[in-house]
Amino acid sequence: MTAVTEATDVLRLTERINRIEISATMAVVAEADKLRQAGVDVVDLSVGEPHFLTPQHIKDAAIAAIQGNFTRYTAVGGTAELKNAIVARHAQDFGSGYSAEETMASVGGKHALFNAIQVLVEHGDEVILPVPYWVSFKDIVRYAGGNCVLVKSQQENDFRLTAEDIARAFTPRTKAIILNSPANPSGAVMSPEEMTEVVRLALERGIWVISDECYVYLNYSGREFSVGSLQPYRERLLVVGSLSKTYAMTGWRMGYALGPAAVIRAMQKLQSQSTSNPTSIVQKAAVAALTGPQDCVRRMRAEYIQLRDHALQGLRSLPGIRSAQPEGAFYLYPNISEYLGRQGTETAGSFARKLLNEGRVATVPGEGFGTAEHIRISYATAQKELDRGLERLRDFLASL
Ligand SMILES: Cc1ncc(COP(=O)(O)O)c(C=O)c1O
Repeated sequence: MTAVTEATDVLRLTERINRIEISATMAVVAEADKLRQAGVDVVDLSVGEPHFLTPQHIKDAAIAAIQGNFTRYTAVGGTAELKNAIVARHAQDFGSGYSAEETMASVGGKHALFNAIQVLVEHGDEVILPVPYWVSFKDIVRYAGGNCVLVKSQQENDFRLTAEDIARAFTPRTKAIILNSPANPSGAVMSPEEMTEVVRLALERGIWVISDECYVYLNYSGREFSVGSLQPYRERLLVVGSLSKTYAMTGWRMGYALGPAAVIRAMQKLQSQSTSNPTSIVQKAAVAALTGPQDCVRRMRAEYIQLRDHALQGLRSLPGIRSAQPEGAFYLYPNISEYLGRQGTETAGSFARKLLNEGRVATVPGEGFGTAEHIRISYATAQKELDRGLERLRDFLASL
């Protein structure tokens, strides 16, 4: 009996909590931490967060909020000031036209997504997920009682799906499609035309498009695009955004949703019975981020592009490693199948574990993202650290 089923039997935990798994990325972080605490020098290419510091003017706004005693409860979905800042930023950057009633703030983009799926997905509903998918999509859908319908993308096409690929998975039970462009873990970017076509086909059938746009400002294709700009289709659109990656604010926990007012109201109802408002101080910091100068976003993006090019070149020089060209986010998703099936590296999971324990490089195995032959490498780190990691990877591969 596993520890989990044993605990379930004794403690009578719910069936729904056993439907989901702990995030694969968090499991690696924990293992790497354990090694580090034991004094091992680990190059960490597993973390999904910017290596930049939160810009000073955002931190100053939080400090001013504390000093000004802005420390009480606020409206559940955020202050009017914050809601106005969210919709104004989105309108300016993507030409959308949402009102304050059509947005809400949550405790991170993940929380906004969790709320959205809880209010939209019913037991037995099908939700279409492009593969590879971000780990949490699958578990959040399952927790709501939905069934994930997986649509596989191909590395040869840089993990890009067409609207036709997605439409082929439609059934009478399809309730929603989750898009994530730029994507975690592949870095794939769908063209605005393909995304528009997905949204059009979905609306025709009354299917929701939930678009996770947490990396929308880390799009290196030169064609930044939010489905929120497709105002004629807004009836079945829900956009999830986050300040985590855009402004290097992962620990602050601030995300938001944009969608029809009735859905936003339902999400706020759910949030009113769980976390209530996101931290008041963070809301003030978020207003500073959204309304303040945006050159910090452009600077970080320029550096990510350099790091992407550098890491991709390094990775492609390794024998037997194939990597698609990511067009956004800050991950590479190389294919390691050449090295699988050898002693101790039978699966991507065992490869990543051996790479961590023997090669002292932390990465995330592909299984958590729905593919068996890849590992995820984050290049959101200093170039020197990236080089150290790539050198270690080269030595590790030579040892197999
Ligand atoms: C695709 C995707 N969506 C959402 C999130 C959640 O971000 P946060 O909850 O920090 O806003 C992440 C974080 O890694 C992500 O990669």
